[in-house]
Amino acid sequence: MPTGSVIRSQQQHKVFVASSDDSKICVVMVGLPARGKSLIAGKAMRYLGWVGIPARVFNVGSYRRHNTPQPAATFFDPHNEEGERMRRVAAEAAMSDMLKWFQSGKGVVAILDATNSTKERRAWIYEKCRQADIETLFVESICDDEDLIMTNILEVKTTSPDYKGQDPEASAQDFRTRIRNYEKAYETIDDHEKHFTYVKLINVGSTVIINQIKDYLSSRLVYYIQNLHIKPRSIWLSRHGESEFNLTGRIGGDSNISERGERYARALPSLLQKSGVPPNTKSVIWTSTLKRTIQSARHLKAETGYEKLEWKALDELDSGVCDGLTYEQIAEKYPEDFAARDEDKYNYRYRGGESYRDVVIRLEPIIMELERSENVIIVTHQAVLRCIYSYFMNVPQEKSPWMEVPLHTLIKLTPRAYGTEEQRFKADIPAVSTWRGKGTSAKHQEFPKEGEPKEEGGSKEEGGGR
Ligand code: ADP
Ligand code: F6P
Ligand code: PEP
Repeated sequence: MPTGSVIRSQQQHKVFVASSDDSKICVVMVGLPARGKSLIAGKAMRYLGWVGIPARVFNVGSYRRHNTPQPAATFFDPHNEEGERMRRVAAEAAMSDMLKWFQSGKGVVAILDATNSTKERRAWIYEKCRQADIETLFVESICDDEDLIMTNILEVKTTSPDYKGQDPEASAQDFRTRIRNYEKAYETIDDHEKHFTYVKLINVGSTVIINQIKDYLSSRLVYYIQNLHIKPRSIWLSRHGESEFNLTGRIGGDSNISERGERYARALPSLLQKSGVPPNTKSVIWTSTLKRTIQSARHLKAETGYEKLEWKALDELDSGVCDGLTYEQIAEKYPEDFAARDEDKYNYRYRGGESYRDVVIRLEPIIMELERSENVIIVTHQAVLRCIYSYFMNVPQEKSPWMEVPLHTLIKLTPRAYGTEEQRFKADIPAVSTWRGKGTSAKHQEFPKEGEPKEEGGSKEEGGGR
């Protein structure tokens, strides 16, 4: 019976992969340089990885750099025969690696990140994929906002490996000439390509044209991509204030916050201000439907600009028959389940409850909504917060359930062009530690941490073509 839990989690994995459709998809980016293609490709890969779909970006520029590390703009002139040849070689190498990756059985979604700016190139990709039984989804980014393009060039292109060590102003100038060269040969997707599955994003998704989406996975991807925006914003994450269950080491439940938890709730408005929540603007707060998160947000009042929304999807991981027990009691009552959870915490599903994998699936609409939104403050629970944090910071599945996310600490995440910047703001209010390391004793210990409020910073690189 206890080993049944392990079998259960394997079955649920299979079901999940099957539900993500058995088809293989090649997402083909299309568009002039500096249209956000690499950024979209990187984000789509991170999103897919987070929901458990193996995805990889094949960036043609990186293949081209093997032979031509720092080409001048003239390299990209369509009349430059040698340049055209080298670019074809790079595209073929990326295609060949992509097909090998699919053949290895490891891949579900490949993202071919290049300009793919001519009909001829797209027809070649389509045909290669068709022969290998791979669906294609073309994603074209069109943008005629010259100021935005110049900003993009200065933000990401002058620091690209293509211009490493070169003068930024001269690099920006060269990149603009590169774009002019691409424009000579660029053909947007048109009626002659009506048989393609495609999405066109015009001016950062202000207009979206969708053609022939056939399967569920493609439609999820298209929905995700069309909601992406580039307005500057941050996302604040906090666990609820210390709860009465936290004090006794019990999991789950719907207890009130403790006296120290209430102190955190009172401190939250000033902590948020200190962390840079813009004053005199509406700030959106999402809590779960459980008392401890609602109580923690209760001093963030509508009169001071806070608008609240309760989400069932933000409720803590359901621990089923173990709800209300301490880790020690679980280890005693369900020793094999306790060991199975330590063995594979991401996939382990509590009897009558949930696994981390289940939580990620129910959080998908939250992530979609977060991508559409601007500033959002989320007050939620340990396991849920680990999952949301992992999406933004690209934490692998096996690490995510073991992350330390202390109570009484505000995390501010700020998405940047190629990564997410993180800052932590600790309230100087002690709380128990609810963290338990893999394979350690199940005994609940109280670790009140006094200390100065502290700020920590960092950022996580996303990589990308540039
Ligand atoms: P590309 O791969 O098309 O050369 P990048 O992805 O390297 O372009 O460009 C990243 C920059 O593009 C970022 O500064 C980002 O803010 C911006 N960006 C993201 N999406 C779009 C879009 N749909 N249209 C225009 N610019 C975008
Ligand atoms: O102890 C606080 C808590 O939020 C519990 O309600 C929940 O079951 C647990 O943390 C999740 O953390 P873990 O997956 O590490 O047990
Ligand atoms: C590149 O060489 O940087 C590149 C993206 O190649 P292409 O436009 O030929 O796809």
